[in-house]
Amino acid sequence: MQERIIRHFSLPGTLQRAERFGSGLINETYLCEIASDAGVRKYILQRINQHVFLHPKQVMANVETVTTHVQERLRRAGIPDPENTTPALLRTRDGKTYLVDGKGDYWRMFHFIESGEVFDTVQGEQHAFEIGRALGSFQELLSDLHPDQLHDTLPGFHYTGRYLDEFDQALRTDPKNRSREIMAEREFVYRRRSLATALTDHIATGEIPLRVVHNDPKVNNVMVHKGTGKAICMVDLDTVKPGIVHFDFGDCVRSAANPEGEDAPDLDAVRFDAGLYETIKAGYLETAGSFLTKREIELLPLSIQVITFELGIRFLADYLRGDTYFRIRYPGHNLHRARVQFKLLERMEESKK
Ligand SMILES: Nc1ncnc2c1ncn2[C@@H]1O[C@H](COP(=O)(O)OP(=O)(O)O)[C@@H](O)[C@H]1O
Ligand SMILES: [Mg+2]
Repeated sequence: MQERIIRHFSLPGTLQRAERFGSGLINETYLCEIASDAGVRKYILQRINQHVFLHPKQVMANVETVTTHVQERLRRAGIPDPENTTPALLRTRDGKTYLVDGKGDYWRMFHFIESGEVFDTVQGEQHAFEIGRALGSFQELLSDLHPDQLHDTLPGFHYTGRYLDEFDQALRTDPKNRSREIMAEREFVYRRRSLATALTDHIATGEIPLRVVHNDPKVNNVMVHKGTGKAICMVDLDTVKPGIVHFDFGDCVRSAANPEGEDAPDLDAVRFDAGLYETIKAGYLETAGSFLTKREIELLPLSIQVITFELGIRFLADYLRGDTYFRIRYPGHNLHRARVQFKLLERMEESKK
């Protein structure tokens, strides 16, 4: 099957091997080995998940704009083969960056970054620092790309006020009669409603700018060097679009500095690792400090609370709606997920972050 797809891409040689690769949850990813006279070369082949990305053409236009821009910036900085250190698309024989197969599936290929590896969880202090550094340098490389150049592929994404409206609406309609089970959580949300607009209000006033941001800066989307552990790049660029840097920074810290994870079975064990937060922030500012405004930097600590609140109300609203968005593994899973995020938020508040 992969053979038929790959044939359409402009590649020297023949496919030797193709196997599933990585632990990504969204796209279908294969590592392909292509043999030619010059030796064996590796490539990533991916099928875009069209349940998540409803407009794959726009997603691919964004990925092309972003990867081309970053490669250009790296070339200008004297790096001759940027495809070894940043995601770089291959083209099909007719010059496109993707192939649509007979079933309507979208496929694209990247050069394989040989020297890199990704981890699902934070490996320690140095890794945390590099995660921050990778995110900062990704944003820096795109800080001279105007956000108007990109499609808004996920309208309303991270506009926390919208999620709060959706929660309010789910509470009003209460289609599964669950609202009475969540009295404590309703109170929790009520007391923190102002968090919902704490960041986005500053976009409206022009105090903080829209930039090009990643939008999914999870630990396993950060590639580090196999030998040195140093940050190489961010992968998984399908969600890149206009936004504020706080969405990225907050979400990165939220996911990385919660050692018990989003499904922590014991709520009392949920912790916010303030040390890891400081380390990620230090790494982030080492590279992002060069272009961020003073106001953007001031608002970084608030961003982790806003993003944690946001995810909590998204889980809670989905619980009220009858679990229509986040897939559950057991009844009450989304309620538990919301409680984990709210506990994490409490811990952040206690540590004054
Ligand atoms: N250019 C690349 N070079 C090497 N590995 C890659 C490259 N692109 C993606 N990967 C690997 O494939 C995994 C899944 O890709 P990703 O784009 O993150 O998809 P998903 O959206 O499913 O998470 C990544 O975590 C990484 O291990
Ligand atoms: Mg990924």
